[in-house]
Amino acid sequence: MTTNPFDDGFGNKAEAFEDADNTVLSPKTARTFGDIVNRRYGRRDVLRGALGVTAVTALFGTTALTAATQARAATPAFAFPELESGNDTRHHIAEGYDADVLIRWGDPIFPDVGPFDPHAQSADDQLKRFGYNNDYVGFVPLADDGSRGLLCVNHEYTNEEVMFPGIGRQDNKDFADMTRELVDIEMAAHGGSVFEIARGTDGKWSVVLDSPYNRRITALETEMTIDGPAAGHARMKTAADPDGTRVIGTLNNCAGGITPWGTYLMAEENFHGYFWTDTLDADGKPVLDRADAESLKRYGAPGRWYNWGQHHERFNIDVEPNEVNRFGWIVEVDPMDPASTPVKHTALGRFRHEGSESIVNADGRVVVYTGDDARFDYVYKFVSAGTVSDDRAANLTLLSEGTLYVGRFNEDGSLDWLPLVHGEGPLTAENGFESQADVLIDARLAADALGATPMDRPEDVQPGPDGKVYMMLTNNTRRKEGQEDAANPRADNAFGHIVEMIAPDGDHAATTYAWNILVKCGDPAVAEVGAQWGPETSEHGWFASPDNCAIDADGRLWISTDQGSNWAKTGKSDGLYALETEGALRGSSKLFFRCPVGGELCGPYFTADQTTLFLAVQHPGTDGTKNFAGFERASTFEDPATRWPDFQDGMPPRPSVVVVTKQGGGRIAV
Ligand code: FEO
Ligand code: CA
Ligand code: CA
Repeated sequence: MTTNPFDDGFGNKAEAFEDADNTVLSPKTARTFGDIVNRRYGRRDVLRGALGVTAVTALFGTTALTAATQARAATPAFAFPELESGNDTRHHIAEGYDADVLIRWGDPIFPDVGPFDPHAQSADDQLKRFGYNNDYVGFVPLADDGSRGLLCVNHEYTNEEVMFPGIGRQDNKDFADMTRELVDIEMAAHGGSVFEIARGTDGKWSVVLDSPYNRRITALETEMTIDGPAAGHARMKTAADPDGTRVIGTLNNCAGGITPWGTYLMAEENFHGYFWTDTLDADGKPVLDRADAESLKRYGAPGRWYNWGQHHERFNIDVEPNEVNRFGWIVEVDPMDPASTPVKHTALGRFRHEGSESIVNADGRVVVYTGDDARFDYVYKFVSAGTVSDDRAANLTLLSEGTLYVGRFNEDGSLDWLPLVHGEGPLTAENGFESQADVLIDARLAADALGATPMDRPEDVQPGPDGKVYMMLTNNTRRKEGQEDAANPRADNAFGHIVEMIAPDGDHAATTYAWNILVKCGDPAVAEVGAQWGPETSEHGWFASPDNCAIDADGRLWISTDQGSNWAKTGKSDGLYALETEGALRGSSKLFFRCPVGGELCGPYFTADQTTLFLAVQHPGTDGTKNFAGFERASTFEDPATRWPDFQDGMPPRPSVVVVTKQGGGRIAV
């Protein structure tokens, strides 16, 4: 039996691999221009030090700095009574609001499927049901009055220890119980769901089971097209797809986005974890004796988080060396056509995409922001070549061609977007990039060569009003003293921060922006944490590990958190926070919703009329339950820390989408 390098006392696989994945894969942790200036001038808060103000003013004039502060008076933007923080077996919402469970893992999304029995699972059955670990949630309206629409939900990954009876955690026992049948159920529980929902006369939403729009997208059997510069390249060809243009399935779909033309983007994040090898060294680490070993190492592949490669050869890199290159992309789905073939857009680059939020620039081009969620990795944006029009079919090709850029955050408060274009700068054959396909397949290596700024795990990146773009940086405890820079100012950054990027005159196609730090997370009462919050932040309102975010119809920012097993460092569950971005209260945060123990909060998504908020509670009952007072052990199917949301004997905790509405109706937090 192989020794598992991660047999480590962690409560579950997710905790173990998140820690193991701390390996610093980016080589450029201390060589940015920002560092050079930093050494010369000393560390300072950008826009507060004289250098920052001078440089930013020179770039954008004084309006870029003053417009924001004049936009809102010093009155709170969010009208709701703050929820008390804490952590228990249930979810909680601010007084005056309802938070109703809409759909749970295993619930049918087609008619005549029947109730879910977790003791009688099969892959065929799972294909007809809502998948596991709901992450991104988007809503595409079908009716002008907002009463019907399509919910688009990502299913990021699976937790076998609370999903299947009788097996417990498997990665630390060589996946001994993970049979082909269980693996196929996992693959059917990954991907996404698209289904119609309708609002009743009571204001409550329900799933329309017989809607013709309903579909499941899975890792098991959904065929996808590959387009863009890497389509058809030799590195994209496999035994099953000698053309390099068709692939089965999508993996680890984390956050995503709804495009301006109403399609659903699914971001493939930790794809490396699904690939397998049997070629290991004495320490159980993969031996990579192949020409593209540097590429594999930079992505952490094969991660061996799942044993799919033992039952499906395409996930074993010893057998199928190129399948790994066909994951790690942005996938576009047309929810209006349930028979449509999803498209993997290689023009947006290959990395661990957290999300993919877009905006139409003033010149009509679409700009997509996307973070690479790993310690010391980068933030990117894509600018389309074409412009959005009334021709929906043409809009569906906009993500096929354009320019991908990576961010370099300078100490003077400016941000350079560096193009990933073959033949420009270091991206040449001499440096291992033979074509634009190589640049995109190895986007991380290309970004390394360009000198991008290594960030503290870029998660969701959301364009907001007035050219502002908000980037969640969730945490990075591997940043050591001496590795700080202006945009990542704390060593041992356990609690994360939020960076605001400012497009000049709202031009999202510009190649130079300004940037600023909105908040530094963690407990403001503990001096050594070094937190930075607005003046109205209460003991319940501060948070840690910002992950996903949303802008509501009023342009207000909402943040959801994912502390993982580190929640005990704050004593708070994950939750949803309303964060002031303008005026004297800028940086003030307020708690609106919180998760049951062990869950992280995903979504969030507001309908355009702002009367409904969709939230996704992911992996309830799993993360950090060893620190949950009175439970203090890892959860299993038979013995979970909570049975949320059913609270029925025999039913394990179930990831679920929650719908928030105001009691009596009306716009949220107004
Ligand atoms: Fe899937 Fe980076 O969270
Ligand atoms: Ca996330
Ligand atoms: Ca997360």
